Amino acid sequence: MAAPIDAGIVRRHAQAMGLADLGRASIREIKKIVDLVEKDTGLRFIRMEMGIPGLPAMQAGVAAQIEALKMGVAAAYPDIQGIPALKSEIARFVKLFLDVDVNAEHCVPTVGSMMGGMATFMTVNRMWADREGSLFIDPGFPVQKLQCKLLGHDYFTFDVFEHRGEKLRPKLESYLKTGKVSSILYSSPNNPSWICFTEDELRIIGELATQYNVVVIEDLAYFGMDFRKDYSRPGQPPFQPTVAKYTDNYILLISSSKAFSYAGERIGMMVVSDAVWNMRSPDLLRYYSSDQLGHGLIFGAIYCLSSGTSHSAQYALAAMLKAVNDGQVNFVDQVREYGEKAKVMKQLFLDHGFTIVYDKDLEDPIADGFYFTFAYPGMSGGHLLSELLHYGISAITLDITGSDRTEGLRACTSLIKRDQFPDLEARLKQFQQDHPV
Ligand SMILES: Cc1ncc(COP(=O)(O)O)c(C=O)c1O
Repeated sequence: MAAPIDAGIVRRHAQAMGLADLGRASIREIKKIVDLVEKDTGLRFIRMEMGIPGLPAMQAGVAAQIEALKMGVAAAYPDIQGIPALKSEIARFVKLFLDVDVNAEHCVPTVGSMMGGMATFMTVNRMWADREGSLFIDPGFPVQKLQCKLLGHDYFTFDVFEHRGEKLRPKLESYLKTGKVSSILYSSPNNPSWICFTEDELRIIGELATQYNVVVIEDLAYFGMDFRKDYSRPGQPPFQPTVAKYTDNYILLISSSKAFSYAGERIGMMVVSDAVWNMRSPDLLRYYSSDQLGHGLIFGAIYCLSSGTSHSAQYALAAMLKAVNDGQVNFVDQVREYGEKAKVMKQLFLDHGFTIVYDKDLEDPIADGFYFTFAYPGMSGGHLLSELLHYGISAITLDITGSDRTEGLRACTSLIKRDQFPDLEARLKQFQQDHPV
């Protein structure tokens, strides 16, 4: 039986967008092609390319944002460093869920963690003129490397899968010893592989960051979402593991997009340690009016990027954090559905001849969460993606995530509704029949 979508349709749209190789296409480019193919064919895709939350926004935020708009905040510019009520709730959240003390003044709202990353690269990576840029512990979120590229920064990257546990130390040191690294970035839980760093690994990262005086950018976009542990109770262990326990050289990026399903309002949190905030370097004067990182971050980077973060969204985030900090809302329970869907979806792939690429988290099977990675025997990631698009299934290649594993794709579980599982199963079945191994 032929695939449900004519190959010519996909090819035509890819060519019109100037994409010679779908395997190198960005998440947004794949999304655009799938939007067009869906429109042309009327077929509803199994859309696994983009990490859009598939759940309703946290209600405490929506109510507070509406209230703030009615109060008239839309007319006024917000302070670029954030409204005081939000800054103190961020500091409280960090204490209650990470067990780390931070200064509320150094807790800054950003236009999503995307902007937090950009502002961090613009300051941290410019502190030392003789260093080259960030070291990405990959696989990772492709846009962050794009941000570095846009800024004209170099970067280093390695796939961590073969360097877990104690093996992480020599691998990291081999880069740090060059003296060219200014910051280290990773996400944990990891997008796309869903690897979660252990306390021992975070200790290694933290110790080396202190030793080589580099700044760790810890991206907690999936805060609390390692569902094997319960990180949801304020002030009670276990706490979400963090490098902040092991070094003073850290910046935390905490997104509200997934944990609070607030992606649309583009608001995230940047938490800067006292040590990093107060770092001084004459090289910063090339770009900023002060040699102090915290000053350059607020009155240089954030001022120029967006002049702060949407006023009403700040009220929303303050209210969501308050509800969570006060123990009125369990934000982890609200997103557990992702892990449950992942379990079913992974099984459907395995039942139809696919394999899981990043299948282990140290000795344990990889947890069920927001993403999983899969491959089909004998196919590169690019080939598999182009083939699956003809079956109404979309994803992104691991190639663009800094992964060494060129054969795989990343699937995002969030947008798939449970009523699409029978469609997914039928399409995978047909794919397997059409591609005998
Ligand atoms: C690892 C990672 N970092 C950052 C982001 C961006 O978060 P935000 O929506 O807060 O900009 C994402 C979004 O998918 C992500 O996966």
